[in-house]
Amino acid sequence: MREINASIPVDKRLWQQDIAGSIAHAAMLGAQGIITAEDSAAIIAGLKTIQQEYATQGVPEHIELEDIHMQVETRLRELIGDAAGRLHTARSRNDQVATDFRLWVREACHEMDRALKALQVALVDRADQNADSIMPGFTHLQVAQPVTLGHHLMAYYEMAKRDRSRFADCARRLNRSPLGSAALAGTSFPIDREATASALGFDGPTANSMDGVSDRDFAVEYLACAAQAAIHLSRLAEEIILWASQPFGFIKLPDQWSTGSSIMPQKRNPDAAELVRGHCGRIIGAFTGLMITMKGLPLTYSKDMQDDKAPLFEAHDLLDLSLAAMTGMIGEVVFNIDRMRAVASTGFSTATDLADWLVREHGVPFREAHHITGAAVKLCEARGGELELLTAADLGGIDPRLANAQLPDLSVAGSVNSRTSAGGTAPLRVKEAIAAARKELGS
Ligand code: ARG
Repeated sequence: MREINASIPVDKRLWQQDIAGSIAHAAMLGAQGIITAEDSAAIIAGLKTIQQEYATQGVPEHIELEDIHMQVETRLRELIGDAAGRLHTARSRNDQVATDFRLWVREACHEMDRALKALQVALVDRADQNADSIMPGFTHLQVAQPVTLGHHLMAYYEMAKRDRSRFADCARRLNRSPLGSAALAGTSFPIDREATASALGFDGPTANSMDGVSDRDFAVEYLACAAQAAIHLSRLAEEIILWASQPFGFIKLPDQWSTGSSIMPQKRNPDAAELVRGHCGRIIGAFTGLMITMKGLPLTYSKDMQDDKAPLFEAHDLLDLSLAAMTGMIGEVVFNIDRMRAVASTGFSTATDLADWLVREHGVPFREAHHITGAAVKLCEARGGELELLTAADLGGIDPRLANAQLPDLSVAGSVNSRTSAGGTAPLRVKEAIAAARKELGS
């Protein structure tokens, strides 16, 4: 029973939140005259001593004390005697744990914001250096149209921006204090929930005591945010893995970001990127795991809910580490610009430019232009050579209207430079996006 019941090995991570919550509660009990001013002061002094102890010596794990709440209260009794027994007046571990966990998740949201911002800074820096470096853009992992590397990297900037806004929403929505909900029904003592809420930095108390003790949607929401951020990271990780592979040859990971093989001396493996990709699975697992734990639980508290912390802590740690590794890799990866550019001009990547030119300069309906361009691609394929080498005579052979045409610039640079629509890949637009990003980041 002791072993299955205990949560201290996991919830000891809540110690700072637990002591902060207890200090706020004890101060309120004193101010409301629910306990004496002396008892309130003694409790607060004792809690501050425990704070010092835990900060310097770590949190002890007495499994028979079940959880962090009993751990702290037991130590308090050792330090200040019977007054410790008054701390739990007008409170229950149910509202206590709900409060502690919200405080922890709120800070976790802020940590993720900082980590995502660091990734954004790395992305913008590398995008800035490569605002006009040309690479192939892919659809179906087939060369589609030339883009700039800066544009590609800035796509991930946008994803990180939305990830940050999701964590900010989560932190905003969870910022209500369940403290004072007591076991489930509220309390008969004249407590001041506004006071404890504001002492703990909440926007106010939760409105319903039963909801206050039994809701864990803030934790599920945090995991949803984490899962989405991890999914984004896994896509970038996958690209790093592909790009580092010899058939691509787009990047070289520096020594500090690659590992060797125990048997093949030439290997430079992208292990960190593979682990970022792998960790995403565990983070999604934590998210689905907690949803399944919560599904169908009747109101209010059930012990199942003690299993809310392990998956959240695990996902948080994994995402934190993944973000740090990805930020490091993005900052230090070596781009093989020549190779990217060479591949960008394979696969008839400027075919759309030829079709667009037929529409623009010759008034050909797009569908017909698509058809003519298809024939031009076939011709180049048969002859071996890219579209850039097409002559007016070649085009005239396909469609007599084009016999004397002044051919467009079908180079990859010409293609990229022409894509000036808002949000497009033209270096001009990419530099604007980078400038706007720097402004957003305050750098
Ligand atoms: N260790 C418990 C948890 O994390 C604290 C709340 C226990 N409440 C109770 N009535 N058993 O959920």
